[in-house]
Amino acid sequence: MTDAPAVLPPLRIGPLTVDTPVVLAPMAGVTNRAFRRLCREHGAGLYVAEMVTSRALVERTPESLRIIRHDPDERLRSVQVYGVDPATVGAAVRMLAAEDRADHVDLNFGCPVPKVTRRGGGAVLPWKRDLFSAIVHAAVAAAEPYGVPVTIKMRKGVDDDHLTYLEAGRVAEDAGVAAVALHARTAADHYSGTADWSAIARLKEAVTSIPVLGNGDIWSAEDALAMVHQTGCDGVVVGRGCQGRPWLFADLAAAFHGSDARVRPGLREVAHAIRRHAELMVEEFDDELKALREMRKHMAWYLKGYVVGGELRRELGLVEDLAHLDRLLGQLDLDQPYPGEAAEGQRGRAGSPKRPVVPDGWLDSRELDDTFRAALAEAELSVSGG
Ligand SMILES: Cc1cc2nc3c(=O)[nH]c(=O)nc-3n(C[C@H](O)[C@H](O)[C@H](O)COP(=O)(O)O)c2cc1C
Repeated sequence: MTDAPAVLPPLRIGPLTVDTPVVLAPMAGVTNRAFRRLCREHGAGLYVAEMVTSRALVERTPESLRIIRHDPDERLRSVQVYGVDPATVGAAVRMLAAEDRADHVDLNFGCPVPKVTRRGGGAVLPWKRDLFSAIVHAAVAAAEPYGVPVTIKMRKGVDDDHLTYLEAGRVAEDAGVAAVALHARTAADHYSGTADWSAIARLKEAVTSIPVLGNGDIWSAEDALAMVHQTGCDGVVVGRGCQGRPWLFADLAAAFHGSDARVRPGLREVAHAIRRHAELMVEEFDDELKALREMRKHMAWYLKGYVVGGELRRELGLVEDLAHLDRLLGQLDLDQPYPGEAAEGQRGRAGSPKRPVVPDGWLDSRELDDTFRAALAEAELSVSGG
């Protein structure tokens, strides 16, 4: 690394300092303890766990307790909570803070899944400004006595005609939130098209006293620098770009410290990463078959751009245990060098825009009324997050 000046100052999230202003985006089914460890071994930043629902946490379900587990050396311990009821979210955040189970809590207002938005949860919740404000206030009040900062992660709004992010950002700022992150798409956009980084710039103008983090379509360190340059954001949140590429965090750390060093792994290094990931997953789940089944989806991400025969690729997608994995990895042409562009660019979820599914009448008023309360309770039960 060179001694060039850092591109951005350290990110300050309440009392916490993150030297490299890079956040691993929470991703359900991906950012478990194993994957976070792999990412941490490459780079620096804040690594957020998979989201956990406030209900499951309060009920202490085994799955929710797995999700919030951190490695003993994992600092900062970052947990994302999804909830729709202020009292339950408050109780969940109090549990995390009072029992010293997290150093940072993020609130999820970005989930676009129809099964959640149909009931008023996730990315369409901030439309009900009273409910949004009550949830954020409850979380901040629960965390404050313990010095644990709360942040929020949201989308732009329901669709282009029902944007909520500027108002939600200001409400969160006034409520004492320590940072806001924007995935610059609407719920209707889902994962389609390209993220609208200009919205991040507008949020940065609207929210002035706390960091604004930009999220959406960072596939390389150069993309991260471009987002900072174009939007003035205080840090970046990276999701799909690091799927099958935990070394992206090394590139990001280098880029933010003014270096143009980039990791360009040959297939041997990729195979090592797959093996290491699989071992960590076995530790995480304490169940080799479950761990390897969870690894299957990662194979295509790891191998994107490398020449791997169709049959071998297919078998890797059906891997059963570590011995099976080793046999298959042994069949790869391990001397294959980094393939360049073919290994880069978009990966993971994409798809097309979807008409936002919201409860009947949801968009008629910005305030919550009783007809929606029962449906909302279901919104939390229908999301997988512990
Ligand atoms: C598989 C997957 C799971 C996700 N799970 C969550 C989640 O639990 N909480 C959340 O706030 N966002 C979740 N997201 C959204 C990401 O955090 C991120 O906002 C989105 O992928 C856009 O960033 P990217 O373009 O860097 O991927 C998920 C995305 C993916 C692809």
